[in-house]
Amino acid sequence: MAINHPSFGTLDENRVIFFDTTLRDGEQSPGFSMNLEEKLRMAEALAELGVDVMEAGFAIASPGDFESVQAIARKFAKSGPVVASLGRCNTADILKSAEALKPAARKRIHIVLATSDLHMRVKLNMSREDVLQLTHDSVTLARHHAEDVEWSAEDGSRSDPDFLCKVVEVAIRAGATTINIPDTVGYSLPADMATIFADLRARVPGIENVVLSAHNHNDLGLGVANTLAAIQAGARQVEVTINGIGERAGNASLEEVAMALRTRHDALGYSNGIVTPNILKTSKLLATITGFDVQPNKAIVGRNAFAHESGIHQDGVLKDRTTYEIMTPESVGWSNSSLVLGKHSGRAAFKDKLKALGYGDVGDNQMNDAFRRFKVIADLKKVVYDEDVAALVDEEFRQNDSVKLTALTVVSGMGPKPVASLSLEVDGEVVEGVAKGDGAVDATFKALQQAFPHEAELKLFSVQAITEGSDAQARVTVRLEEKGKLVDGQGADPDTIVAAARAYVHALNKLVVKRARTAPEALTA
Ligand code: KIV
Ligand code: ZN
Repeated sequence: MAINHPSFGTLDENRVIFFDTTLRDGEQSPGFSMNLEEKLRMAEALAELGVDVMEAGFAIASPGDFESVQAIARKFAKSGPVVASLGRCNTADILKSAEALKPAARKRIHIVLATSDLHMRVKLNMSREDVLQLTHDSVTLARHHAEDVEWSAEDGSRSDPDFLCKVVEVAIRAGATTINIPDTVGYSLPADMATIFADLRARVPGIENVVLSAHNHNDLGLGVANTLAAIQAGARQVEVTINGIGERAGNASLEEVAMALRTRHDALGYSNGIVTPNILKTSKLLATITGFDVQPNKAIVGRNAFAHESGIHQDGVLKDRTTYEIMTPESVGWSNSSLVLGKHSGRAAFKDKLKALGYGDVGDNQMNDAFRRFKVIADLKKVVYDEDVAALVDEEFRQNDSVKLTALTVVSGMGPKPVASLSLEVDGEVVEGVAKGDGAVDATFKALQQAFPHEAELKLFSVQAITEGSDAQARVTVRLEEKGKLVDGQGADPDTIVAAARAYVHALNKLVVKRARTAPEALTA
């Protein structure tokens, strides 16, 4: 039966709502934190991808989180996806979400409360009665601030089914418009999912008037399978992330759920609003921003996802692609022409390319700086790929960084220890460092330590070639840890040592920001 929803109007019974939580659950995982500009860029790409709801963050977690939820709400002040902010079931969280979401044309307050006996006892120290009461009170309060309220039963999949039915009924009576049952720890099997949703639909009065939602973590690699099972059992919202990022092993991946629904429409028969040809560029944008590429064999967006290696397969594909391809590469955004620009490309072509890559709102100064750097790279490399452009623009976007690398010289080779000398601009002041090291990278990092003293320890250093060939840009990821806080920095440059220095400086900047940030507490009431 069709549902009349405050944000979507009359919803067709087969329409699946895509709720993207890349900017909240995804961003929460170690190493995947994004700054405001990065979140805004992802938000734009997600809107172009056609997500219905975008969880912009956890407004009360920190001033930075509040600012980014508010900025995304402003971005979609006239139209765009529903913007959601997560909070716990308490007054302060709900009011903070409401305040941050105010500018959005369509907004959703999302609140969460644990319902498994284990979580209620150990984490919340609350009885079942307390949880029922708090559910009622918090949903009622949230409804005073938004018509669209989602209530989530944290650890719902491990909750007692009778209690789950009871608490969901209370949430619906208090005015929740979406009921989300997370498999918070990724423990369920597809059959469990089917039982949970079928049970709720059979037993909870009023369930037919709300949207049921699935939020599946991937600890057993079952996030997508569980999500599809939930849909088949009546869920009409899926909570997913780009590239499947998220807490621990991540969440069900948006691109896999979307393509399963599209490719197996024959068996499933559901509709959704995802613009699948935009999938790849959104995935790549996220990889560029976070510095984490997906594995080569990742379904849909891995670089081997459509590569046919064996002779038999190649032969078959040449005769008829459908012999070994269940979907076309073009349907998710792959094309043969990732070669984009060369050294003769002009400003207009460069600007067009930036727009296509999701950097639509580049200011004139950033555009000029990025174009200048593009010309340098185009002179060094024979061909400039999308990934090269994305990497260099990302660096130009870091205008607000308080620490900037302004010069670096490294003398290295066989024989004496390498020496690095460099200059930084720290809040406008020039500082310098010179150091020897066991290798060029080590010397560079020691010189950075000298110029900008800090206690952080290096936890990860990884180098990837962005494209192919010896003139490829290197993309370096550096992970630093200071007092339990982890930050990842990325840097790209045709010179690997320069890329390493840029990555280290990027991580230092994130550390500076993170020092001022308080981590969200555990999801307790
Ligand atoms: O996994 C989970 O339980 C969550 C909730 C906050 C929805 O992310
Ligand atoms: Zn989650």
